[in-house]
Amino acid sequence: MASQRQLEGKTVFITGANKGIGAAIALEFAREGANLFLMDLQADNLPAMIEEARSLGVKAGHRQGDVTLPAEVEQAVDAAEKDLGGIDVLVNCAGIFQSTPFLDYSLENWTRVLEVNVTGTFLCSQAVLRRMTGRGRGKIINLSSIAGRMGSKFRAAYSTSKHAVIGLTRCIAIEFAEQGITANAICPGMVDTDMFAQVVRQDAEIRGIDPETMKAQFQSRSLKPRLIPPVEIARLALYLASPASDGMTGQALTYSDGIVMQ
Ligand SMILES: NC(=O)c1ccc[n+]([C@@H]2O[C@H](COP(=O)([O-])OP(=O)(O)OC[C@H]3O[C@@H](n4cnc5c(N)ncnc54)[C@H](O)[C@@H]3O)[C@@H](O)[C@H]2O)c1
Repeated sequence: MASQRQLEGKTVFITGANKGIGAAIALEFAREGANLFLMDLQADNLPAMIEEARSLGVKAGHRQGDVTLPAEVEQAVDAAEKDLGGIDVLVNCAGIFQSTPFLDYSLENWTRVLEVNVTGTFLCSQAVLRRMTGRGRGKIINLSSIAGRMGSKFRAAYSTSKHAVIGLTRCIAIEFAEQGITANAICPGMVDTDMFAQVVRQDAEIRGIDPETMKAQFQSRSLKPRLIPPVEIARLALYLASPASDGMTGQALTYSDGIVMQ
């Protein structure tokens, strides 16, 4: 007899799902039976992902939208609930990276990183929690980073934003525990996505070295000679979305091939 899929019939709303970790989470969740609503500023891959999800026997919809704009967030969350039913799981994966020497930050760059990574997570969480409250269950999963667990050169805005995501996760965990809602953060290390390629490019440029040397320097910090495949982060997200993690809330789980050990 086929075993029950872990998210069968659950409605999951994922931001930043057009590529990278968000896309891997979407497909992993669809394989486990979740109905998906995908939101991203760049929507070019979303129709193909919707098709793939439907071929796995789940319902799926999408919206192009910016997580920093309250009206766009509200419309997408509303559409998800109308099309797929009450949201059971929110994954806040939309994020941007910026590597800049501290004294060179423009206010505009600083603000945009905080807006997308922190305010976007806040707005999506608020829109979903308004509807989740009263249903007696729900899971919020936020993408932080190992940058949220330590400081690093040239990462003032990004690292600050990812520390803030952990704080926000814990506040949600405490405020909504009585409603049966959990909130946890994932702190990945170096994951094989376009964002990591951007990290390498930007740091190499600031340091005046070639990107391959920069990448080798990053990899020397890891206990494994590789970049983490996005599907491994998706499997951790699956655990946090499933009933197996019902007793876990307010946690920041590091997945970094040993770069950070806390
Ligand atoms: N790749 C890594 O090594 C790594 C490590 C730690 C944490 N993370 C975090 O994981 C998350 C996903 O990263 P990734 O590597 O998949 O990045 P990515 O750049 O491959 O994908 C990010 C997605 O977010 C979307 N996005 C950006 N701004 C948005 C906005 N305002 N509104 C809606 N969507 C928006 C982008 O269009 C893109 O599709 C991010 O929060 C990132 O900070 C990544």
